[in-house]
Amino acid sequence: MGKIIAIVNQKGGVGKTTTSINLSASLGVLGKKVLMIDLDPQGNATTGVGVDKKGIDNSIYEVLTLKSDIKDAIIKTKSVNLDVIPAYLNLAGVEMELIELERKYRDTDQKINRVMRLKDELSKVKDNYDFILIDCPPSLGILTTNALAAADSVLIPVQCEYYALEGIMQLINTIMLAQRKVNPNLDIEGVLLTMLSVNTNLGLEVISSIKEFFKERVYDTIIPRLIKLAEAPSHGKTILDYDPRGKGTRAYINLAKEVIERNGTKE
Ligand SMILES: Nc1ncnc2c1ncn2[C@@H]1O[C@H](COP(=O)(O)OP(=O)(O)OP(=O)(O)O)[C@@H](O)[C@H]1O
Ligand SMILES: [Mg+2]
Repeated sequence: MGKIIAIVNQKGGVGKTTTSINLSASLGVLGKKVLMIDLDPQGNATTGVGVDKKGIDNSIYEVLTLKSDIKDAIIKTKSVNLDVIPAYLNLAGVEMELIELERKYRDTDQKINRVMRLKDELSKVKDNYDFILIDCPPSLGILTTNALAAADSVLIPVQCEYYALEGIMQLINTIMLAQRKVNPNLDIEGVLLTMLSVNTNLGLEVISSIKEFFKERVYDTIIPRLIKLAEAPSHGKTILDYDPRGKGTRAYINLAKEVIERNGTKE
């Protein structure tokens, strides 16, 4: 049965999407069947795996609002073992629609809970995958709440910068609230340090303060700041295709190995 991991941090630009794309692709290359869910209206994870948003019939928006069967929204990518459910700008308006849907179904047999929509849909495809990764938007609204309700665990990317821990308490509180209200088994999968610049001592200070806070939850693998990781999405390629022998590929493959190891399954 697939392990569902939400990639979460309400802080913008910390490497959620880059990690969703490249960790998904790396798990795929290591032989795991992976489904990546793009849950951000920006749709950057979608384009990042080479899917043209213009050609999409069904996206996660249609799935959440009952306009499409989840199985009809799954797209095979060029990457081995990697499927994606894309996102499009219409996802930005999903909250009002879900409130409306919940009201419409209130007096029927098929109850709808707007916070549980993603969980309800993923239960239909969970068995077909080893891992399901969810790329969350930089906010703690209805989409992230759906991800926290559906996920087995959260992976938190933290950028190696001076203000790294800013906002982390709010994130932890949100995770604890989700545990109390919608998902008592929600676990912290791991904390990933991203965008470490060489030639600065700042990164090292940040690393030690984050390790002090999260202890063994912090992955040994640290993602370096690399131009190639920033360039790859504009070519619609994962780092594994864009720079197969480079440091970025090595880093994300190492991260995937750690994720597999923590989940007690063999590559
Ligand atoms: N390791 C890295 N090295 C260099 N650039 C990176 C790295 N990781 C991410 N970036 C770049 O930094 C920017 C933010 O990264 P990304 O989109 O992955 O973050 P995000 O947390 O998903 O952002 P948002 O909160 O907007 O969804 C992007 O332009 C991305 O290409
Ligand atoms: Mg993103």
